[in-house]
Amino acid sequence: MTEDAKVTPWEVTGILGDTDYSKIADRFGAKIIDRAMKERIASYTGDLHPFLRYDVFFAHRDLDLILDAYSRGEGFYLYTGRGPSGKMHLGHLLPFMFTRWLQEKFNVDLIIQITDDEKFLFRDLNSGDLNRYTSDNILDILSLGFNPERTHIMVDTLNSGLLYNNAIKVARHINVSLAKSVFGFDDSDNVGKYFFTSIQAVPSFILSEILGRPIRCLIPYAIDQDPHFKVARDVMPKIGYEKPSSIISKFIPSLKGSGKMSSSDTTTGIYLDDDRKTVRKKLMKYAFSGGRDTADEQRKYGANPDIDFSFNVFRLLENDPSVVSRIYDEYRSGQLLSGEMKAMTADRISNLLEGLSINREKVKNNISDYMFSTDRFR
Ligand code: TYM
Repeated sequence: MTEDAKVTPWEVTGILGDTDYSKIADRFGAKIIDRAMKERIASYTGDLHPFLRYDVFFAHRDLDLILDAYSRGEGFYLYTGRGPSGKMHLGHLLPFMFTRWLQEKFNVDLIIQITDDEKFLFRDLNSGDLNRYTSDNILDILSLGFNPERTHIMVDTLNSGLLYNNAIKVARHINVSLAKSVFGFDDSDNVGKYFFTSIQAVPSFILSEILGRPIRCLIPYAIDQDPHFKVARDVMPKIGYEKPSSIISKFIPSLKGSGKMSSSDTTTGIYLDDDRKTVRKKLMKYAFSGGRDTADEQRKYGANPDIDFSFNVFRLLENDPSVVSRIYDEYRSGQLLSGEMKAMTADRISNLLEGLSINREKVKNNISDYMFSTDRFR
């Protein structure tokens, strides 16, 4: 990790390898998900999601308290979100795919916050763009197949009354110097940015507020969002709520293999509306390969699958660990060529994306079923 590596919700710099992630988790005060924790999760879920098996979701805060509550029959709820600033890429999908699995395994309520207010404050977007991205992104997310009865989409500007009345409780406990040091703001940042983290904190306790009894909250996200919840956890006991728990992932890297896949470079990301030809072309041209320069060398010396973008994505989309180890061995030994690895992964990604675009059409007419309303909890 470079000296000045930075991870905030709005900026990620530095090359991120596995040891860097452990260091960041340590710096943020999160715990690594170890073998015992994975076994405990599997004891409730039956199997392990590939994102857990391959340590993409690698760290947590107080996940044990969630599982304790669940085993006592007290239940919990899930909360995650999206800032609608443009088209979604494969990286953005990751926490939602995992959250969908958690919802299915534990059969719990889920709040999905859509922070259109955040993107208004942090990006130069007009309300037309924001509305379009908001509805497009909601459809993208719902195409993953969440439980309509237990999924609650909370668009910030549509729920501003509830959010504001609860955010002020949080904001009173966050001073400017804390916001500066945690989020890297300076005097030139607009005042809305300073307030925003209080809005993102609200869904982590809103169900306790609505139900009038404490209920624990588990928040899945990639590590860039952790600063928000580190702050929220410090504030919660001061305002009479439980600290939320988190389950935290690494980033899907850019195709070039480093940092995070990000919306700012369209050639190094895979977007949900990329067709089969485009996905294949992007992987062939840009995906970082652990293979050798020529087919002959590859056959002779084999590849390094561990650093190979395509292999790393392939294993996340394959449920059967024995298939993953077979492909690993074939690639490592030189039986499988780089181009073949890329083509296989491109197919997997396109199968996923094509499935989502079919589901998208199906949920289009039912969006209102999923929208947040306090009445749905009563
Ligand atoms: P946003 O829209 O930037 O990102 C949405 C979710 O995607 C994760 N993420 C990634 N995961 C894996 N690989 C990547 N390359 C990658 N890039 C982004 C983010 O960590 C996030 O989980 N402020 C938030 C919206 C939000 C939220 C939340 C997110 C509101 N409440 C609660 C998580 C949990 C945002 O702008 O996310």
